[in-house]
Amino acid sequence: MSEQDEKETDATLIGGVREKETRTKRIWEDDSAENGTLTDRSLELETPCVVINSSIVNANIAAMAEAVGRLGVALRPHAKTHKLPQMADRQLAAGATGITVAKISEAEVMASGGIRNIFIAYPLIAWSKLERAARLSRSGVRLIIGVDSLQGARRISEVAVREGVQLEVRLELDTGLRRTGISLGHAVRLAVQIHALDGIKLSGIFTYRGAMLGGAATLDLKAAGHEEGLLMASTAAALRSAGIPIEDVSVGSSPTARFAAEIEGITEVRPGSYIYQDRMQTAFGLCALEDCAGVVLATVISRPSDDLIVIDGGSKTFATDVQPGTAPLFLKGFGHILGDPDAVLERMNEEHGMIRIQPDAPYKIGDGIQIIPNHICSTINLHSFVYISDSSSQLVKTPVAARGMLE
Ligand SMILES: Cc1ncc(COP(=O)(O)O)c(C=O)c1O
Repeated sequence: MSEQDEKETDATLIGGVREKETRTKRIWEDDSAENGTLTDRSLELETPCVVINSSIVNANIAAMAEAVGRLGVALRPHAKTHKLPQMADRQLAAGATGITVAKISEAEVMASGGIRNIFIAYPLIAWSKLERAARLSRSGVRLIIGVDSLQGARRISEVAVREGVQLEVRLELDTGLRRTGISLGHAVRLAVQIHALDGIKLSGIFTYRGAMLGGAATLDLKAAGHEEGLLMASTAAALRSAGIPIEDVSVGSSPTARFAAEIEGITEVRPGSYIYQDRMQTAFGLCALEDCAGVVLATVISRPSDDLIVIDGGSKTFATDVQPGTAPLFLKGFGHILGDPDAVLERMNEEHGMIRIQPDAPYKIGDGIQIIPNHICSTINLHSFVYISDSSSQLVKTPVAARGMLE
């Protein structure tokens, strides 16, 4: 390869277009790296793959910890985003009180990585899973389980009594998402029934609803967070009046955590995505593209026509749960192509990603492309490994310990 060719290859790294003087920094360039950029090493990576920038991760962790810590509210990040005990450790070191997961298997992975305070914010119903929960609890982990029905609570109670442990539970409330959670109007009655069961300690309530206001998707995150917080604080007060000593009132998502935490009576928030950020969060205006720590690297494998390139990553590489063109964000395509905001990742098969480009865009076969996915959490779950930058300019291939944990 001639020197000129080499320069051209380097120049086409960013979104497949030539470097412009005003371009943003390459996402994997780590500020803490001693020896400059990681570009050469990232060129050696086989694509498609995910690269995580540690400096950005640490800044995102610190910003959320500061924002909610200032309000005296506990932070219990959802580990669904990173699925890695080492990232949970960073969050705990920055002041988080514990972590949140959705599955008993995720809780087990986190516990074996040394995490001792875990909330499974999901109803555990299967007997075998409850037995695993009892074992984890007996091992010294502070384990809290979500519950939203009397039947579910009775199962937890039965296993707790049989296994000789007390299991801590939080009642899940539906504040508008219409997913799991008892409706607000039925919360007191159910809580009183759960409180009376043996082997159970009903210590709190929780909800999840994301960016919603008055029952509909919204971009007004402050109003959404405040509404979420007020609904939960007033329900906690009603439960206390009914004689149930509710300690924890847990709310929030990455879009609403900061605002919900402003409401008196809220004791804890559970944002997840904020650690890596993603295109959704940038579209909400919560962060800039430079704050996105997780980037998918892909390679142009075909340019069948002037206005189309095909990359080596499709629906096995990029999550599809946040669909283009849906409220409230109306995103174009399945990710943001760094350096080429007009390019649209508009279609995918399992192994092919079809990107519509400007006919004069100088993409070549073999070019590297960096894409911020619409939703980082479900994208990470597709990858067995991520490459995490460290302070000595290395990219460390790291197994995603709690990915694909279905049970
Ligand atoms: C119960 C629960 N809590 C917290 C979160 C974190 O939300 P986000 O990733 O929007 O911060 C989620 C996300 O799905 C969730 O389901």
